[in-house]
Amino acid sequence: MKGILLAGGSGTRLRPLTQVISKQMLPVYDKPMIYYPLSVLMLAGVSEILVISSRAHLPMFEALLGDGSHLGLKIDYSEQPRPNGIAEAFLIGADHIGDDNVALILGDNVFHGLNFSQTLVQQAAHVDGCVLFGYRVHDPEGYGVAELDAAGRLIGIEEKPVRPRSDLAITGLYFYPSDVVDIAKNLRPSARGELEITDVNLEYLRQGRARLVNLGRGFAWLDTGTRDNLLQASQYVQTMEQRQGLRIACLEEVALRMGFIDHESCQRLAAGYGGNDYGEYLRAMAADLARPQG
Ligand code: DAU
Repeated sequence: MKGILLAGGSGTRLRPLTQVISKQMLPVYDKPMIYYPLSVLMLAGVSEILVISSRAHLPMFEALLGDGSHLGLKIDYSEQPRPNGIAEAFLIGADHIGDDNVALILGDNVFHGLNFSQTLVQQAAHVDGCVLFGYRVHDPEGYGVAELDAAGRLIGIEEKPVRPRSDLAITGLYFYPSDVVDIAKNLRPSARGELEITDVNLEYLRQGRARLVNLGRGFAWLDTGTRDNLLQASQYVQTMEQRQGLRIACLEEVALRMGFIDHESCQRLAAGYGGNDYGEYLRAMAADLARPQG
């Protein structure tokens, strides 16, 4: 499966924070925001990733992530000249997708939860239509919202409904077969002038090829859309990391655990942090994982 990480948009709501840097480059506690969605693609076993952003912001992402080879990844970059809608990612990324399935993740989505990698890998193994990930929120009107029948089957999706039919938001992580490109080609811009991801999902639903996976209450899907949400996301990561001594979305650790890099490479990356606490964490974690388990 290929991956697309959409990290464009104008970040208007967060200005002046986003006056000169991309929203997806802002810190979420101890890492740039983009680390979190990138780690999700990696946890799904995806190693060929296209990062899409505006011309102004692409150089920063390239400086941060390079070609991805240090993480055992292949990262390419494409420009989205204007924020014409999330579904435009499939038009920009058509060559990258080719005949493969694709996972799209929005660059401002932070996920954290038990056995997430297992869930992702399981779901990625059966992509016969769109696979959506639902999460209960108290303010569904700000999201794409699922409508379920009495048996819990997905029967509708509405984008930012005034009167939501459920409290199940559709998160910014989506799996599709390669025919998503054809579906995206046939989309018309919505009333707000965007190619809507919800319209792509509705087409799969019409074809009887849409599946919704509920992430459940023991899971965290965090918003980063406002100053307060952003701070809360940082506080969540800080609380979890300090309590457990385990880092969330530490890309080098994920690369090692997923088998994208070996222990020696991980130790070299750790050394590159010049003895700071992130590097020290990596060093100790890699040494620990290298020990025979049992
Ligand atoms: O986060 C999940 C929600 O994301 C879904 O529930 C909604 O169905 C979906 O439409 C989307 O809603 P948002 O209101 O969060 O979309 P927004 O326009 O804020 O874009 C989400 C991210 O994608 C943001 O980081 C900017 C980026 N983006 C967005 C557009 C429209 C792009 O890179 N290019 C774009 O053209």
